[in-house]
Amino acid sequence: MDRIKITGGGPLEGVIPISGAKNAALPLMIASLLTRDTLTLSNMPLLADVTQLERILGNHGVDFAISGKRSGQSENAGRTVHFTARDIVDTTAPYDLVSRMRASFWVLAPLVARAGEARVSLPGGCAIGTRPVDLLLMAMEQLGTKIEIENGYVVASAKNGLIGGEIDFPKVTVGGTHTALMAAVLARGETVIKNAAREPEITDLANCLNKMGAKISGAGESTIVVKGVGSLHGAHHSVLPDRIETGTYAMAVAMTGGDVLLAGARAADLQAALDVLEQSGTKITSTPEGLRVKRNGGGIQPVDIETAPFPAFPTDLQAQFMALMTRANGVSRITETIFENRFMHVQELARLGAHIKLEGDTAIITGAEHLDGAPVMATDLRASVSLVIAGLVARGETTINRVYHLDRGFERLESKLRACGAQIERISGHA
Ligand code: UD1
Repeated sequence: MDRIKITGGGPLEGVIPISGAKNAALPLMIASLLTRDTLTLSNMPLLADVTQLERILGNHGVDFAISGKRSGQSENAGRTVHFTARDIVDTTAPYDLVSRMRASFWVLAPLVARAGEARVSLPGGCAIGTRPVDLLLMAMEQLGTKIEIENGYVVASAKNGLIGGEIDFPKVTVGGTHTALMAAVLARGETVIKNAAREPEITDLANCLNKMGAKISGAGESTIVVKGVGSLHGAHHSVLPDRIETGTYAMAVAMTGGDVLLAGARAADLQAALDVLEQSGTKITSTPEGLRVKRNGGGIQPVDIETAPFPAFPTDLQAQFMALMTRANGVSRITETIFENRFMHVQELARLGAHIKLEGDTAIITGAEHLDGAPVMATDLRASVSLVIAGLVARGETTINRVYHLDRGFERLESKLRACGAQIERISGHA
């Protein structure tokens, strides 16, 4: 199993190119199941989760072709991948594939919309709380799907096609909103989605579906209206830049000090997190090339945050921000309102010398003058990268075990950081 070795050191200086967003790429790929034609996605990140989903889609009959490199294209250019689901050959998504990545459960909606049936294993994924799928199933039922649970599988059918209806989510859910959209686009009549998630990845999916011939209005707002169409066609769509990767590197620079351009990043997709970073003493400027993040001298100021659905501070940046606060000049409080049990990084940060106390859904962090390198273990995707951020300033050597979590969501992490002066390397082999 690979490990990552970091020797804590100086500031980060240079340019980090931001990749296409994992959390947009996954639902966009799944949307290819909705049409017989080819869906071409550019700016695709090269990540373990993407490769895993290609495998899952392949099982349903999706062919994919990767465009070769073009002359003059840098290694940072995202891939262009063509997905074609000419025929759905298998409507079962088996346990051994779905259990590795929660988002693969989202194949349920397009399979039912296109083929009238699906048998999808209940999901696995990051170990961050129970993460039920009741609201995804509720959305499907509202559009006329019959759902049964059999031996760990969701067995769904809508033999006569889906029918538009009203879906009123009692809680904001990203996966639920993706599911509702992908079901509603091919349903007969109109669907109104209330209390929809407003994350930029929802808007990205809706934009792509509209290019494919769907009639969606209001994406990015709390109420989305979808007028069902008979069929969708092929399209070309470029995946939006990854706001979580952007925020993660911004926090790394806030931690180490320095001056880095996050090339291609869009401030509007993570304004709440950028505002918090500014309060902590980091200077952020939007430029035509991306976001410039700078912290010179001056300490890190403590800031209290609470995670919440977009446009508020994202739960996917909570662990990284906690790493930053471990070195703040004072006490900060971080409250996690989206997932219970998303504090597994606390124990590992403590191994590096952080002072963190947990009180229910709140972590109270007292900034320490120094962190000290130690062997630590990654427990989920975002938790792993919080350990990288801490390792960048810890005195001496930090070794992060089980880095496969990082590979699920961060493209070429070590080389991007190394290019800005970090001492970070991957050690292949067994721990
Ligand atoms: C997506 C993101 C994940 C992010 C999360 C919240 C992807 C691939 N994953 O996950 O990185 O952390 O949004 O921004 O895009 N819930 C229910 N019942 C359901 C579904 C959800 O109770 O049927 C709850 C969850 O347990 C959680 C909350 O709703 O407490 C939000 O979850 P949701 O937005 O659905 O997260 P995901 O779509 O799984």
